[in-house]
This record gives sequence, structure tokens and C-alpha cells, in this order.
Amino acid sequence: MIEQLEKILQQRSTVKDFDGNPINSTHITTITEAVTKTPSCNNRYNFKVKVLGQDLNHRKAKLELYDYVCTVSKQNVRYNDDNDAMVIRSPRSFSEARDWHSKGILSSQINGQMLAPLVLVWYFTDGDPINNDYLDVGLSCWNTVLTAELLGIQSGFCACFDKDYLKNFLNIDGEPAVMAGFGYAQSTIPNHEKHHDNPKPSISDIIV
Ligand SMILES: Cc1cc2nc3c(=O)[nH]c(=O)nc-3n(C[C@H](O)[C@H](O)[C@H](O)COP(=O)(O)O)c2cc1C
Repeated sequence: MIEQLEKILQQRSTVKDFDGNPINSTHITTITEAVTKTPSCNNRYNFKVKVLGQDLNHRKAKLELYDYVCTVSKQNVRYNDDNDAMVIRSPRSFSEARDWHSKGILSSQINGQMLAPLVLVWYFTDGDPINNDYLDVGLSCWNTVLTAELLGIQSGFCACFDKDYLKNFLNIDGEPAVMAGFGYAQSTIPNHEKHHDNPKPSISDIIV
């Protein structure tokens, strides 16, 4: 058991490129139910999880997430109408994404995890989350990742979106926190290659 867990923790990597094979329904149930099997401060459970599977509407939605929602500008754009600061950011609406696309400044298709056969979207049901709610969602996320890995299924998180745009796009009743795609990896990029200018800290850097 401990060897298996250590191996998973050692080998797990964020995956953004899945091979297109579906996840069977039993595994989908096991992964999605893992969402609920974590503690929550004061039993608040101030979150829900939207499940995007493989039906036609969900596949269309995932393509749009990939192309127009879970993405950023290629160059600095104005923060908003009230703030002149120039930043790289996610588009705030479909029309803004289309506008950036037509100008060649939309960095689309950067989060391939949105095309995974299973995508989970954690969101806060009460629109005013407290710090502990974020911790609760983190625990719930990690439970799904470990459960999936035990089933031989990989995952990739995605927090690259504008909350209001995603909320409207998916018609969810709350504030999105984070998403994760689950499937079978086609390819993986090791941590040190992804972040050569920002390497992962060593154990002794973190444990003091
Ligand atoms: C809360 C959270 C949000 C993340 N959002 C994104 C994202 O939007 N796009 C992406 O490619 N990776 C995202 N990641 C993946 C991290 O960048 C990744 O975990 C980190 O690079 C470490 O790589 P590893 O998971 O392969 O070890 C996210 C990870 C976490 C924990």
C-alpha cells in the first residue's frame, strides 16, 4: 500500500495531452464520488462539482473551453475599463475572446486538459467563500487525483479562466474555483522541463 502510494506521488505529473480513450463508467463514478470523501471545516461543504463527460453537449463545451475560455492573451491587454494597467489575462467574455482571436492575440488551446474525457469543475455554492472553503476544495481535488492515479488514470488541473465568464459559460450556480481533466496520458512533460526557470523546491526547502 505505502509503496504504491509513494510510487504514485513520485510519478504523478500534470497531464495536458490525453490519448482520447474514454474512462469506463465505473471508474468515472469512483473518481467523482471521491470528490465528497474529504473533510470540510465545520461540515460546511460550501462547494459543488459540475461533471463534464462525453455526451455531445459536454464535448462541444470542452472544445469551447479549450479554444476560448481556459486561455490567456498573448500580450498585455488593458486590465479593465476602470484600470489602465496592462496585463496578460484570461478573456472575460466570448466576444472578447473572439476579438483577441481575430487580432491574433489569443493564446488559445494551451490547456489540453479541457479535452480530457472527464472534466470536473469545483465551484462555491455560496458566492462569498471563506479561506477554509478553498482548503476544502483543495482536499477534495487531491482526493480525486489520488483516486484516479490508483485506477491508472492521469489528471491535469486548470485555473486559467475568468470566473464570471466560466460561470456564465457553464451556467453554474456559484463561483468557479478550479477545474481538472482526467484521462489516459498521451504524453507528459516532466516538472523540471515545464519549469526550468522555476524549479520545484526540494524536500528540505519546504520542511523546516
Ligand atoms: C490549483 C492549480 C491550478 C493549476 N492551473 C493550471 C492551469 O491553468 N494550466 C496548467 O497547465 N497547469 C495548471 N496547474 C498545474 C501546475 O502548473 C502543475 O501542477 C505544476 O506545474 C507542477 O507540475 P506537476 O503537477 O507536473 O508536478 C495547476 C495546478 C494547481 C494545483
